[in-house]
Amino acid sequence: MPSKTGALLGSKSKEIIEFCSSREQLIDRESLELLSAEEHWKQVLEQISSPMVTAKEVKQCLVKHNSKLGEMMMETVVKRGSFTATAKETAGRFRVMKELEAGGKGASEGKLKDFKEYFMDKYTFLSSLLSHRTGFAPKTFDRLKDLPKYAEADIIGMVMKKWVSKNGNTTIEVDSPDGRCIVIVSKEDLETNRDADRILLDDVIGVKGKKFSDEVIIAKRFLWPDIMQRTPKNADTDLSAALISDIHVGSKLFMEKEFSRFIAWLNGSVASESEKRHMGKIKYLFIAGDNVDGVGIYPEQFDELEIKDVYAQYDRLSELILQIPEYIEIFIAPGQHDAVRRADPQPAIQHEFVKGISSAGNVHFIGSPGWVEAEGLKFMVYHGASMHDMIAATKHLKYTEPEKAMIELLRRRDLSTGFGLTQPYVPERHDYMVIREEPDFYFGGDMHIKGYAQYRGCLVANAGCWQSRTDFQVKQGLQPTPGICIDINLKTRKLTENNFARSGNDGADSG
Ligand SMILES: [Fe+2]
Repeated sequence: MPSKTGALLGSKSKEIIEFCSSREQLIDRESLELLSAEEHWKQVLEQISSPMVTAKEVKQCLVKHNSKLGEMMMETVVKRGSFTATAKETAGRFRVMKELEAGGKGASEGKLKDFKEYFMDKYTFLSSLLSHRTGFAPKTFDRLKDLPKYAEADIIGMVMKKWVSKNGNTTIEVDSPDGRCIVIVSKEDLETNRDADRILLDDVIGVKGKKFSDEVIIAKRFLWPDIMQRTPKNADTDLSAALISDIHVGSKLFMEKEFSRFIAWLNGSVASESEKRHMGKIKYLFIAGDNVDGVGIYPEQFDELEIKDVYAQYDRLSELILQIPEYIEIFIAPGQHDAVRRADPQPAIQHEFVKGISSAGNVHFIGSPGWVEAEGLKFMVYHGASMHDMIAATKHLKYTEPEKAMIELLRRRDLSTGFGLTQPYVPERHDYMVIREEPDFYFGGDMHIKGYAQYRGCLVANAGCWQSRTDFQVKQGLQPTPGICIDINLKTRKLTENNFARSGNDGADSG
């Protein structure tokens, strides 16, 4: 249940924000807290004519009013609506592709038949992609007995088990509706072994090989469902989409000052006219999860929280989001720190947590994975929890290169990486982790480390974060890349990094 304090603060804060908005002023948390406790807050704000309301000014006004409030923290206030952005003048064309995301209702009951349906649904879709591949003629396992020994044999199967035999050969057991089969990769075949390293449990793969016995194939090459190789698609409109992730509002490590700079930038607080033109094209903002830090996500987290109530964390997030210009369409996906189930696929954050913004016409809550079609281009957003299991299970992937793990997920056409490993999945009857459409953009987060790549016509981008280096990252020797918003022009597909974390930088530092 929401705390009474949180609910009251949220309602008063909203009133203050709306009042500031009507005066083309914005206000941050510290000022909101101060003024929320002040009976005559309107009169205080009316005395401040500057578009840049400072903590000093608020304090002076409070003193004039004989306020009981004492010392204040530094604040960042930004001016809103002080310039005309291209994106403001252009109506967006978009739709949330709800049919591709888990709704959280009618999900599996976890019974045996649910698991069977889940795996069959995934197998049916992915095997149909593989079976149409040129130069690949898969046979059902029961037809292998009709072939002579060492004859060419192509099959499709779901990986049940992978191990190294006593002879040092990689051995894979695959399953299909027609039975099971063993696939062997000779230890002498280095190239095929390199590919075999990519194979994870539950992958649906194609195998080109030679029959060894009625139930054993020697692999020569592996195939993945993959996305098609195609020319990158551009939009007609000169608009941009921006990406951020892992804000972690409520954590003591949340970089509020840098995030306020980012909001100020979106509101036109930029160094030059050319940058203003550039930033003014942002029509869409994607947030790829971990919007708040949550409560009880891991042991000892409570001591690391600045805001210890999850509702109050979302109240604060809402206050920040409300300061983003209304002409920007914002798509918010959940992550494992958000108040939805931890298991993938995650449904959208529910209304009860984000009452302050869920009714705003420009804020859209999507699932993870969630899909949006904007300006004729398809965006797939997945927070990225499954990448941990993938990185742990393979030799060639690292936390510092999240884009490579993302490409592996595209290659599999599957965002899940093995049922029963660290990351839990809900066996929905329809598997929403399977990548059923071919995205033009795949946006992610979770790693707190940026990474970008082009893959077969899809732009893959992993956002950094807005949280300082955590103890976990120190132990792992990982360096996050915080305070960065990227934007991509949808007409040219040019990606720009805007850095709000560099010391002494009050605005964006594009590069
Ligand atoms: Fe995170």
